[in-house]
Amino acid sequence: MGGRFMTETTIGVVGLGRVGRGLVTMLSRRGTKTHMYNRTAARALEMSEIAGGSVAMSPAELARECDVVCVCLAGWEATRTTYLETGGLLDDTGSGRLFIDLGTLEPAQARELNDHVTAKGHRFLYAPVAGRPVELEEGRGFVMAAGDPTGIPTAGAILSGLGTFRHVGDDPGHAAVMKLATNLLAFATLLATSEALELATTAGIDRRRALEVLEQGPATSALLTERREAFLDPGSCAVQGPIDGGLKIYEMITAFADQVGSQAPQAKATVELFAEAVAAGFGSRDVTDFGAFLRARQTVQEG
Ligand SMILES: NC(=O)c1ccc[n+]([C@@H]2O[C@H](COP(=O)([O-])OP(=O)(O)OC[C@H]3O[C@@H](n4cnc5c(N)ncnc54)[C@H](OP(=O)(O)O)[C@@H]3O)[C@@H](O)[C@H]2O)c1
Repeated sequence: MGGRFMTETTIGVVGLGRVGRGLVTMLSRRGTKTHMYNRTAARALEMSEIAGGSVAMSPAELARECDVVCVCLAGWEATRTTYLETGGLLDDTGSGRLFIDLGTLEPAQARELNDHVTAKGHRFLYAPVAGRPVELEEGRGFVMAAGDPTGIPTAGAILSGLGTFRHVGDDPGHAAVMKLATNLLAFATLLATSEALELATTAGIDRRRALEVLEQGPATSALLTERREAFLDPGSCAVQGPIDGGLKIYEMITAFADQVGSQAPQAKATVELFAEAVAAGFGSRDVTDFGAFLRARQTVQEG
């Protein structure tokens, strides 16, 4: 599936928040036409002026006019309603379309959507994304897709523009599971790096030198390098992964771990640690600045 498909097909995009706008921007840069819908119409009109493309008056109107529909909404209720309500994506919109949902959903929610979409004779893929909007726009994000395997070549052609595209399997819920697992590994890496630097600097080693050693050691990672400046001067960079946001993600991970009978002991310990940091007023700090909480905690314990 190549260039001709991308320039001759109009892709529907529903939800023009940060992720939806990033997707439309990326598609327009690649010469792909988009048809957009957003609850707040002014946002869709503004986006069509910036990136080109047309605006639909309802999700149903958009779905009737596009063979492929990408949905980027925040929250389960918004997502569910936009598919199922009168005038929604599945309301009298024929059959045979490919719906690709990019929003953050729980595994059971992704499966429920799949059931609704396929019951109407459409195909469904759940394709959650990891990465900030600017990274997605520039093709530096990560997309995990699962669902109807016949939709994968099309989804790959469209979404590989956002970053690395990975096919997870046939069960849409598995993409949601892998998004949780990816988040767990990312936060654990950032937290462990912060703690490792705290150990080294408290013992008198220069922060820059300690970071360089960690970067060159066997546990180096792309994430460590990407957040280098934040680790060198904690608190100086824009907050990308706040501790209170991390707490919510960890709570989702541990709830899901309990549901499937996985112990996740490190995640459970981190929930307690993050909750303590939030209660101590460190919730809005970036996780790369976790050392500030550890030092404050040490002072309280010593005092
Ligand atoms: N931002 C990120 O860095 C990021 C990264 C990875 C994944 N995600 C996931 O991607 C999804 C979208 O995130 P975002 O950052 O683009 O969100 P956002 O900027 O807050 O935009 C939310 C979108 O959802 C729409 N919406 C909210 N409630 C609605 C409702 N009740 N009915 C209809 N539409 C509704 C909004 O429409 P209005 O314009 O009318 O409010 C807007 O289009 C989320 O699931 C998020 O977890 C985000």
